[in-house]
Amino acid sequence: MNLAEQDKLKQSICELAKKKNAVIFAHYYTRPEIQEIADFIGDSLALAQQATRVDADILVMCGVHFMGETMKILCPDKKVLIPDMNAGCSLADSCKAEDLKQFIIDNSQFTDQKPIVVSYVNTSADVKALTDVVVTSSNAVKIVEQLPADAKIIFGPDHNLGSYINSVTGRNMLLWDGACHVHSRFSLEALLQLKAENPGVEVLAHPECKAVILAQSDVIGSTKALLEHTIKSSAKRFIIATESGILHEMQKACPDKEFIPVPPEVTEGVGCSCNECEYMRMNTLEKVYDCLLNESPEMHVNEETARKAVSSINRMLEMS
Ligand code: 13P
Ligand code: SF4
Repeated sequence: MNLAEQDKLKQSICELAKKKNAVIFAHYYTRPEIQEIADFIGDSLALAQQATRVDADILVMCGVHFMGETMKILCPDKKVLIPDMNAGCSLADSCKAEDLKQFIIDNSQFTDQKPIVVSYVNTSADVKALTDVVVTSSNAVKIVEQLPADAKIIFGPDHNLGSYINSVTGRNMLLWDGACHVHSRFSLEALLQLKAENPGVEVLAHPECKAVILAQSDVIGSTKALLEHTIKSSAKRFIIATESGILHEMQKACPDKEFIPVPPEVTEGVGCSCNECEYMRMNTLEKVYDCLLNESPEMHVNEETARKAVSSINRMLEMS
C-alpha cells in the first residue's frame, strides 16, 4: 500500500469509528500507522485504566489477545473488538492455567501459609482467575511492596520481571519460569558494543529483559516510564532495550533526540532476528477497518472466569 492509499484508509477508519461510536486503543508496540489512528496509545496499565473511563459503544483493542480480554473483563457491557484473534503473546502462552493451578497446590502443601498469587497482566483470563492481584510493569514494585512483609508470594509468568522485583523490594517471591521471546533475546554483546561506541549515552530497558541487560541499564521501567524519561531527560541520545515499536512515540515526543535500538542475539535456525513482536505487528490498518466494519472478531470471556478475574484486576487498579 502506498502512502496515499494508507492515508485514505486511515481516514475511512476514523470516519467509521466516529459513525459507530467506537474508540481505538493501541499499545506502544504496534506499527506506527496503527498508533497514528488510535484515540489512546499506552502501556498495559494505561490502556486498562483508560478503557474503564471512555464513553463508547465499541472498544477496538490493537494489541494482543490478553489485552482484549482484560478490556472485556473490565468493560463487560461494551463490544470489544480485536483486529486479529491470533495475535497472542509468548509470555502469556508460557503459563497455562492448569499448570499454574498445580504449581499453587504444590507450593501450598506442607505449610499453613496460603501463598498470595501475583500475576503479570500478560496472562490469560483463566490465569487471572487464579490470581490474587494482577500487576503490570508500571506498578509491579509498588504493589508487591504493599503486600505483608512475611507473605509467601508466587509470581508469574515473567521470570526476568520477577527477579527484578525481588531485587528491588528484597522479597523472595517464588518465580514461574516464563519469558517474552522478544525481551529475553536482547544481545548483551551488542549492547556493550553500542555503549562503547556511544560513551555517555543513557541505556533504557524494560524489566522483561534479562538481568545482564538490566545490569547495564541506567533506567528500568515500563514502556510508559521509559517514554516519559526520554522526554524529561537532558540527554540527547538513548540506547533502547525494549520492543522497537516504542521508538515511534519516543521520536514523535522528542524529535531532536536520537534513539538506538538494541539488536537481539542472532539464533541459528530462527528466521526473524529483529526486535519486533510479530504478534503486535499482526494489527494492520486493513484488519482494523474490517473489524470495525464487520464488528468482528469480537472478544468474549466466559462469565465465571471473568467474575473471578475482575477482582484480581480491580485489586491492581486500587493498589496502583
Ligand atoms: P508494558 O506495556 O506494561 O510496558 O508491557 C510491555 C509488554 O510486553 C506488553 O506486551
Ligand atoms: Fe508478549 Fe513479548 Fe509480544 Fe509483549 S512483546 S506481547 S510480552 S510476546
